Amino acid sequence: MVGNAERGTPAALRSALRGVRRMFRPPTPKITATVRLPAGPPIMSLAELEAQAAGFPSMGGLELAPFLRGLGRAAPADAAIVEVGVWLGAGTAQLACALAQRAREGAAVPVLYCYDRWLAQKSEVQKTASRNTWALKRGQNTLPRVVEALSPFGVEICFRQGEIIEAQWADGPIGVYIDDASKKPKLFRTVMRKFGPHWIPGKTVVLLMDYSFYLSTGNEEHSCQARFVEAHADHFEPIDLDVREPGCAAAFRYVKEVDFEAAIARGVL
Ligand SMILES: C[S@@+](CC[C@H](N)C(=O)[O-])C[C@H]1O[C@@H](n2cnc3c(N)ncnc32)[C@H](O)[C@@H]1O
Repeated sequence: MVGNAERGTPAALRSALRGVRRMFRPPTPKITATVRLPAGPPIMSLAELEAQAAGFPSMGGLELAPFLRGLGRAAPADAAIVEVGVWLGAGTAQLACALAQRAREGAAVPVLYCYDRWLAQKSEVQKTASRNTWALKRGQNTLPRVVEALSPFGVEICFRQGEIIEAQWADGPIGVYIDDASKKPKLFRTVMRKFGPHWIPGKTVVLLMDYSFYLSTGNEEHSCQARFVEAHADHFEPIDLDVREPGCAAAFRYVKEVDFEAAIARGVL
């Protein structure tokens, strides 16, 4: 919205132009798909898999590599690992490295469930181009490329493509929950309602990769995750991420059951 004082300024003209462009832009196609990558025999050594994992374009997963590997090593075999906001699979590859190692040692491993729209946005195309990594095109369905890149790890991964607000969960208990997408209240409330009741008190680790994003954006909406966790301080025990560069991620052990519906009613979710 342009106020009277701003009318005619370059910023106002740019904003109006953006509005006109939006009006004529074809609606973004909604893609929904489920792809299941089955567990397979090892086709690479663990060292080769680690090198492969280090080459994924990353918006956080690579920076948290040691922590994610630790999560993959410790995740209960009889509960799922859920990753919401996967992008090109940088974090998934780190988890998959740890799971591949466990599988080679003859241990049972959990299934990974990945949620994303996998539709390349302009900013993502620019990011991969500037880092000289994968070449993406705007609007490209990136899921086939992600599935291909994760297939050598030989671990079972279920990819659920679509808008996270419409995501479904009917796959049992969740031992690890990783979220790098639900920064705003409506989406965060939705995912907490869907996935939270399947967390296991005393076991599940919750990694919120945008936890303190609000400190850099100053956007009050981005503090929804912190507001929720702080209102349930005796339900979430902080875990040290042990990373060299402080980012905005935070991890917690879910130690005591949360009443998600009551939290919504109290206005803290
Ligand atoms: C910051 S990136 C994830 C980066 C990734 N965790 C990594 O380590 O590289 C956020 C991802 O969430 C996805 N995302 C955000 N909001 C979404 C929504 N409402 N529905 C589906 N996907 C969404 C985007 O497509 C994007 O791939």
